[in-house]
Amino acid sequence: MSESLDFGYPWWLSYGHLTVLLPALALLAVALRRGWRRWVVALLAAGVIWSAGSFLIMRFVINVNGEPMLPTARFFERGTGRVLDLGAGTGRSTIMVLKARPQATVVASDLFGESFDHHFGHRDSPQEQLMSNLKVAGVAERATIVTADMRKLPFEPGTFDAIVSAYAVDHLGRQGIPQALSEAARVLKPNGEMLLMLVENDAWARFAFGPALSHGATRGADWWKGRLAEADFERRR
Ligand SMILES: C[S@@+](CC[C@H](N)C(=O)[O-])C[C@H]1O[C@@H](n2cnc3c(N)ncnc32)[C@H](O)[C@@H]1O
Repeated sequence: MSESLDFGYPWWLSYGHLTVLLPALALLAVALRRGWRRWVVALLAAGVIWSAGSFLIMRFVINVNGEPMLPTARFFERGTGRVLDLGAGTGRSTIMVLKARPQATVVASDLFGESFDHHFGHRDSPQEQLMSNLKVAGVAERATIVTADMRKLPFEPGTFDAIVSAYAVDHLGRQGIPQALSEAARVLKPNGEMLLMLVENDAWARFAFGPALSHGATRGADWWKGRLAEADFERRR
């Protein structure tokens, strides 16, 4: 078992922009030394600025392979009870909740199918990697791993005090998203809370990825508010 956390997101999410930055820097140095035309120098300088900025955003702001912080202290302030993680993947969101809420337990659920392989590469036992991260983070004794499709959850109504889902529901299609949200509402206790984290089509992401931004990010906040309302969630924030 590895001694450090390994969330397994591909290297290019954190370091891909370096493949543009390094050649652009080298070419810029040559251009300046040899006195190339000004528009060429300007183009190369723009490439350096964009790729350096994007690299810093991806590596240090978004930091997909780092341990995330709970984005709002208002989530599950009571802190005692059972939380469900929908689409736990390799454990980032589960660890985030268990560390922020030391009295809580989490059921880390994931389909561990094609979408998991697509994000993290195929593994014989994806559950083992998740468990390994939970152990390294020191939270394994408060977590249970369940293989489940979030569109049809194997839990009784009103099982959970809170639900977290990070960057997972937005992978489902137009049919899957309402199914998952209404399943979440079904298994949540009355007055339970759900923290839904989505890839946001914000200025940082647009700067780093431009038109290559995907992940359901093209659906705006109003679209999500509509789906949450349909599933009977009262939106707090
Ligand atoms: C981008 S990863 C997010 C993992 C983790 N929440 C995080 O923050 O790093 C998306 C996860 O959603 C899972 N997923 C996709 N479709 C699913 C489904 N229908 N039911 C359960 N999990 C699903 C994938 O297997 C994958 O692990």
